[in-house]
Amino acid sequence: MKKLSSISKNDREKLLFDEKTIENRILKLANEITSYYENESSQLVVVGILRGSILFYSSLIKRIDLPILVDFMAISSYGSSSVSGVVKIVKDLESDVTDKNVLIVEDIIDTGKTLKYLLNYFKERGAKSVKTAALLDKPDRRQIDIKGDFVGFEVPNEFIVGFGLDYNQSYRNLPYIISLKEEVL
Ligand code: IMP
Ligand code: MG
Repeated sequence: MKKLSSISKNDREKLLFDEKTIENRILKLANEITSYYENESSQLVVVGILRGSILFYSSLIKRIDLPILVDFMAISSYGSSSVSGVVKIVKDLESDVTDKNVLIVEDIIDTGKTLKYLLNYFKERGAKSVKTAALLDKPDRRQIDIKGDFVGFEVPNEFIVGFGLDYNQSYRNLPYIISLKEEVL
């Protein structure tokens, strides 16, 4: 089996963010999130969207200096989400979010369709507020006028992997973020 680090070096267009840069940025986001919810009396439910958010999620929540409820959802798109915009819930939320503050944790905001779906989902379930933390934002690809509330980095319109993001389920466990060469895709 080839080492992931050697594969990624050959396949990558460029290194976008190294591990230290990512962790420093996440610490700043966590501090912003802590300040934002500090004076809230309602519970905060931090919902990780599987599987892309796993590394961002674990790094973020250990730096949020507030009591939180941990929960996850897994969603997949019917066919290509960029075409239909319809998503299917593969693993539903376990918490009751009525009158609670929800923070959605996503790997990347691309077209914005997933996020739009999730915002409606939590509002319909009676959440007191719904905010989004996204590690990455690809604004050039946006089809729906929507913004993340706590965003790590803007990225160009390239295919990005690492730190949770995948290409065909591969590269998720890379500790840094790269863009893939066209010929790899
Ligand atoms: P949206 O609904 O188009 O905003 O899609 C969001 C989802 O598409 C993300 O949660 C990712 O799983 C996936 N995605 C979008 N762009 C990329 C990328 O560059 N690399 C890996 N996954 C991506
Ligand atoms: Mg995803």
